[in-house]
Amino acid sequence: MGRHALFLWIVVAILVVAALSSVLPQYNEFAQSHKLNKNKVMRAIKAKVNSPDGRGMSCFACSMMVDGLQTMIKENKTDDEIAAWLVGLCDFFNVEQPHVCKNIIYAFKDEVVFVLANSAFTPDEICGAFIQNCGHSEPPRTVMWNLTMPGGKPPVKQWEKVQDGKPTLKVLHLSDIHIDHQYQVGTEAYCQLDDFLGTYAMCCRDYTDDVKDSRKKDKPIYVPAGPWGMPYLCDLPYQTFESAIKHINQTVKDLDMIIITGDFEAHDSWDYSEELTIENMNNMTNVFLKYFPGIPVYISIGNHEGVPQDAMAPHTMPEYDKRGPQWLYKIMVDMWSNWISDEKAKADIQYRASYAIYAKPGLKLISINTIYCSEFNFYLYINEVDPDSTLEWLIEELLDSEEKNDRVWIISHIPPGDNYCLKGWSFNFFEIMKRFENIITEQFYGHTHYDQFMVYYDPDQSMRPFSFNWIAPSLTTYAWLHPAYRIYDIDGGYPNATYHVKDAYTYYANVTEANESGKEPQWKMSYDTKAFYQMPDFTPQSWSDLTYRLWNNQTLFNEYIKLFWRNDKRDAECHLDAKCRYSYICNIKKARSYDESFCADLKEQLFIAS
Ligand SMILES: *[C@@H]1O[C@H](CO)[C@@H](O)[C@H](O)[C@H]1NC(C)=O
Ligand SMILES: *[C@@H]1O[C@H](CO)[C@@H](O)[C@H](O)[C@H]1NC(C)=O
Ligand SMILES: *[C@@H]1O[C@H](CO)[C@@H](O)[C@H](O)[C@H]1NC(C)=O
Ligand SMILES: *[C@@H]1O[C@H](CO)[C@@H](O)[C@H](O)[C@H]1NC(C)=O
Ligand SMILES: *[C@@H]1O[C@H](CO)[C@@H](O)[C@H](O)[C@H]1NC(C)=O
Ligand SMILES: *[C@@H]1O[C@H](CO)[C@@H](O)[C@H](O)[C@H]1NC(C)=O
Ligand SMILES: *[C@@H]1O[C@H](CO)[C@@H](O)[C@H](O)[C@H]1NC(C)=O
Ligand SMILES: *[C@@H]1O[C@H](CO)[C@@H](O)[C@H](O)[C@H]1NC(C)=O
Repeated sequence: MGRHALFLWIVVAILVVAALSSVLPQYNEFAQSHKLNKNKVMRAIKAKVNSPDGRGMSCFACSMMVDGLQTMIKENKTDDEIAAWLVGLCDFFNVEQPHVCKNIIYAFKDEVVFVLANSAFTPDEICGAFIQNCGHSEPPRTVMWNLTMPGGKPPVKQWEKVQDGKPTLKVLHLSDIHIDHQYQVGTEAYCQLDDFLGTYAMCCRDYTDDVKDSRKKDKPIYVPAGPWGMPYLCDLPYQTFESAIKHINQTVKDLDMIIITGDFEAHDSWDYSEELTIENMNNMTNVFLKYFPGIPVYISIGNHEGVPQDAMAPHTMPEYDKRGPQWLYKIMVDMWSNWISDEKAKADIQYRASYAIYAKPGLKLISINTIYCSEFNFYLYINEVDPDSTLEWLIEELLDSEEKNDRVWIISHIPPGDNYCLKGWSFNFFEIMKRFENIITEQFYGHTHYDQFMVYYDPDQSMRPFSFNWIAPSLTTYAWLHPAYRIYDIDGGYPNATYHVKDAYTYYANVTEANESGKEPQWKMSYDTKAFYQMPDFTPQSWSDLTYRLWNNQTLFNEYIKLFWRNDKRDAECHLDAKCRYSYICNIKKARSYDESFCADLKEQLFIAS
């Protein structure tokens, strides 16, 4: 769980309260008068801050604000007064820079209010609905639903071997670019340092309307933002993005394809607008067209493309015409049409921002909109069941490919095993991957920003590993990272090629070094996956073997952690601590969200060891 998620949960708490006021005027009747005692609250918050559990803190913030709100409603305050009070509270506790406090409430209010008005939560359940272990409602993030899987699964085939001496293709995998067009050299890169809750979402920015003591313009800067980006809570300056693209243009002459697994926007969710997203998308498209003329770029949509962030309502939602993401999907059609000519694919993009095309003869590439499983896509809480029939559509595409004996690649933003992905969607997706395991050749994801992978185990067949996810490190430095990208050699470009990854090379640049030297970032190879981990191949079995080697070999695990963070400081002691190791390894083994049953064997060993 990254810092951004903690920030978002606090925002949710604030919004839930904002929403209560507009949605439930009758709430007034149950309201009890609680005067907000600032000192008491401050002491309580101090105690809470010491607990590492961010969600516990959000629950506390939510409950506290519900109390305060009850008072205000009782006093017949207007909506504007209530909004001002929330902004004040956000300021008072330094939840965020004043600029952010001012804008965030308004950025999400409309969506959250609408969702609460159209869903079945009672006032009593609201904090609990969005925040784990808070209050008494069933968290909507773990609601289950079932799709019917088509029968007739063919006998499981051996994972195809890649032959030596055959042609290969080169594919660039970029993820989570998150350009900050407002990045300002010389501003504070460590902006949350002075602040009490430490929840600041984003630094390296000049927040013009910030006047609080802790943010005053004459305040000394601890860590000034350098020209090439900072491994802090900062996004990528445009020139670092361009530097990476230029470097790839100059060093990879035989690039065949680019895949980008989403998230082009900076993390400033409070300032999102349709205009800025359109502008940035056009900018990115032009850069790719300029530096990679004639090379197809296949993209999957990211949660930060939504305005507000993650907001992508499906067609079944009331007021779809007014609130739907048609405007966004239209940009995707326009942008992606530079590389996709198939009319059916374009119609699918306009409908659900997913598509399937033949990237090469016999290779179907399916780009899936996983924002339809995002826990921050609040519209889904009105109805979580298969938004825009995306999984039904996926099944149709896979049945068609099964018949044609295609190889299939999945590209998408959120790895469905991550708890960011709603449980119902994740479990159904897992079943689909299992049903079609013979034809699903590779899966590529991003979203986490970390350099990691995940293995799918079949719980019905003695935990047989049957698939895995590539998860590319982010190009953005957010958070505390150095920018990175990956290049794959693919067995492909000849009849009956397997389209499996043959080799994978991860590159990065040390922006601290660039900043200190005053020179452009030096993009260097960080590691060659097969050689570094001494893997014979990239079968699910080999990834599973690596997983257990990481679990059992602390030296190797430590190497993994360094690559995970592109840093030798974060969690540097983790290899010494079994519980810490468990959390990383369980993340690899858990291809369904909210399901640690895949880690039972690890847990057993933990128990024996302790
Ligand atoms: C709030 O409004 C209600 C009904 O309009 C009124 O009865 C009540 O006295 C008001 N409360 C305060 C504190 O002004
Ligand atoms: C989904 O299917 C499984 C297995 O068939 C079943 O155990 C479960 O109760 C179903 N869940 C729902 C919500 O229908
Ligand atoms: C980055 O470089 C600038 C000069 O360009 C310098 O003032 C600053 O201290 C450097 N920051 C870091 C973290 O090295
Ligand atoms: C993209 O935006 C940057 C400014 O952030 C600008 O310098 C650059 O020229 C733009 N590139 C294209 C191709 O539009
Ligand atoms: C690199 O970019 C230039 C334009 O800046 C373009 O003409 C050239 O074809 C590109 N090279 C590759 C390998 O894509
Ligand atoms: C490709 O595979 C098909 C079916 O297995 C086979 O009939 C065909 O001869 C193969 N083509 C080549 C060029 O190997
Ligand atoms: C553990 O991993 C390290 C680093 O890859 C390797 O050198 C060492 O041989 C491994 N130890 C065992 C017991 O396999
Ligand atoms: C990046 O460069 C800095 C300064 O040269 C150095 O201290 C740090 O260890 C480097 N980090 C990585 C991951 O290369």
